[in-house]
This record gives sequence, structure tokens and C-alpha cells, in this order.
Amino acid sequence: MRLVLFTGKGGVGKTTMAAASSALIASRGQKVLLVSTDPPHSLADALRTPLASEPVDVDAGLSVMQVDTQARFEQSWAVLRRYLVDLLGRGGVGAMAAEELTVLPGAQEMLALIAVRDQAASGRWDAVVVDCAPTAETLRLLALPRALQWYLERILPTNRRLARGLGPLLGGAALPGDGVVEAVSRLHAELLGVQALLEHPETTVRLVLTAEAVVLAEARRTATSLALFGHRLDAVIVNRLIPGGGDAWREAWASAQAVQLAEVAASFPDVPVRRAGYRPAEPIGLPVLTEIGAELYRGADPLAAAPVGDPFDVRRTPDEAGERFELTIPLPHAEREAVDLARSGDELVLTVGGYRRLLALPSVLCRCRVAGADLADGRLRVVFRPDPDLWPVG
Ligand SMILES: Nc1ncnc2c1ncn2[C@@H]1O[C@H](COP(=O)(O)OP(=O)(O)OP(=O)(O)O)[C@@H](O)[C@H]1O
Ligand SMILES: [Mg+2]
Repeated sequence: MRLVLFTGKGGVGKTTMAAASSALIASRGQKVLLVSTDPPHSLADALRTPLASEPVDVDAGLSVMQVDTQARFEQSWAVLRRYLVDLLGRGGVGAMAAEELTVLPGAQEMLALIAVRDQAASGRWDAVVVDCAPTAETLRLLALPRALQWYLERILPTNRRLARGLGPLLGGAALPGDGVVEAVSRLHAELLGVQALLEHPETTVRLVLTAEAVVLAEARRTATSLALFGHRLDAVIVNRLIPGGGDAWREAWASAQAVQLAEVAASFPDVPVRRAGYRPAEPIGLPVLTEIGAELYRGADPLAAAPVGDPFDVRRTPDEAGERFELTIPLPHAEREAVDLARSGDELVLTVGGYRRLLALPSVLCRCRVAGADLADGRLRVVFRPDPDLWPVG
């Protein structure tokens, strides 16, 4: 099962390219589900089909759905939220403020991912294509399972015994009931499932852009952030290319775009750069979307993924000074000044351009100290050396 996520700057054509790719996949005889996690209903407009929160068939092999996060929220997280509101209330926080505090950040996005996971696991589809929200939200969405999992594991009790232990801290009265413990455990399991899906080798991200300098600059930053979280970029799609010829105005745009197109190719040497021309009218309806799909992939399999290396790599590299390990993380386009590295217990805290990733260290590295780091050729290399002070006693 292939999962392909389309993202990019606002308005560049994510919805159109996701729909065009899906239409092409279906026309080649595979079963594809196109999912929108973005509240505006542009997918419905592009396909001229009303969407629902369950898959709706729009053509042979092609189904579409719009995740209804509100309804899912009511189902999944209501129990947890009631508990938190109650807990905060006992702590002296007014009911109104407690209600506001418990609007879990990212909850809506998380539920969209859980819905995608459910569909991916259903066995009904050869491919699930996700039309994501603009870049910043998508990155938050993709980083969320890990971040939430981190909080859940530390803050919310996942078993009865632990919950009892928390009693004195919570003032006794607000012990989480069975329902809450169960809700937390279920959420935790769902997060693990989403995380596993996002990390699966058959899950890839496609970045849509237009041939403009500012858009390319953002796409490069996005590529860095995707790599930071270990996501695989497998294609870049340049949309709205203006064909040359005709008057001076058009000629000027076409040649400016050709310059940017060359920059795109130079920026993303490891993935195919796919192209779609500017259409004389809004591409609406399946026939024109399928045509755009064919234009994009030019006979290639729209589900083929560019080969990508393991996002993280740990190697033993002993030298004359003794035992030594190297952890490398691909960070294409990252600027040295934008990268910050810190060690926190058994985790490495890696911050790149405002995005932070907590990396749980493999056990061999937990017993080492960081002996150096450098950034070269789009890779961050962290050197570790064993440190007896960090070894477990006995
Ligand atoms: N190649 C193209 N030629 C002509 N019009 C296009 C092309 N690609 C997209 N459009 C039009 O541009 C508009 C924006 O496209 P689309 O909705 O796919 O962008 P988006 O990136 O999904 O936007 P948002 O960030 O709002 O989700 C739509 O009206 C769409 O029909
Ligand atoms: Mg869109």
C-alpha cells in the first residue's frame, strides 16, 4: 500500500496535483483513495463531486473522502477532555478557562491522520493520496504523533497503578477514572499506528511549487524540515509553467520560469522534478485532471518512489583514540546557523529553523557523550564516544 502526501505553499496547486495524480493512478487500473485533510472544499470543486466523511466512488478505481475532524473529535477525545476540564476546575481554573485550555493543540490534524491510517489499514486501497493543508500546517501535522506521544508518555497516566501513584499530586479527588485511562491508552496506540505509517518505507511526500524564487525558497526549507522528521521526499512538482512563444509578456514569464526551473532541478538533484503547464482555464473535472496526470508522469508509474537512503544512520567508526560512533541525519539545504543540537538524557534535541525533533538515541549511543558535530553536503554528522560516567552501575 502506497501513501503519498502532497504539500507545498498556499495556492500553488496541491489539490489539483493530488487529484491529477490520483486520476492517473485510477486510470491505470489501481484502486486509489484521495483524502483531503484541508477544511476548504476545493477538492470537491476540482472534482465537481460533493465529498463525505466516508469514501465516495467518483470513478472506476477512484474514491474520495473529506476527513470530518469535528465528528471524530467528539467520538475520540471527548472523555479525555472532560477529565482535563474537571482536573483544571479542581485546581481552581474557572470552567470557561478550562474549556479553552483543553482545546488540544493539533487535535484536529491528529484525527485527520488517524482517519488516513484507518483507511490505509483497511486493505481496500492500492494507494492513498492525501491532499494536505499548506506547508506549515502539514509539517506540524507530520511532527504531531511523535510530539503528542512524548507528552502522553510523560504526563498522562497510561495504567491504573501509575494513575493511583499520581493521586496525591492531583489532590486525590481527581483520580482519572477507567474511561480516561482507557481513552489515553487508545490514543497512545493510535499515535503509534500513525507514527509507524508515516515512517513506513512506502510512505512518501511530494512537494508542489511554482517556478518563482520565493516559492522555491520555501520549498527548500520544507525539504529540510521533512528530512528532520525522517519523511521521504520522492518528487517535486513544478506547476503552472507558462509555455513560451507569443507576445513579449508571455515570453518574459516563460524565460523567468525557465531560470527558476533550472534552480529547482539543482536544488533537488535526488528526486524527479515533474512539470505541469499553465492551463488556459481552471482544471476542473476528471478528464482534464487525468490529462494533467499524464503530463506530469510522462508514462512513468505515478506511484514509483525515488530510491531514498535510510533517514538516519549510525555507524561504528573506531579510530586511534578508541571507540567512536557516527550518527548521520540528512538535512538538505540547512544553514549551519539555523541548526542547534543539544543532549537531554537519552535523547538528542535537534532544532532546525524553528522545528524541533527529539531523537531517542539507540542504546549504544546512550552510553556515549557527544564528541563533535558538523554539517556538510546536506548531512549532519554527530560523533559519539563512550563515556564510562554514563554507563549503568553494575
Ligand atoms: N496548471 C494549472 N493551470 C491552470 N490553473 C491551475 C493549475 N493548477 C492549479 N490551478 C488553479 O489554481 C487554483 C489553486 O489551485 P489548488 O486549489 O490546486 O491549489 P492549492 O495549493 O491546493 O491551494 P490551497 O493552498 O488553497 O489548498 C485553482 O483554482 C486551480 O484550479
Ligand atoms: Mg488545496
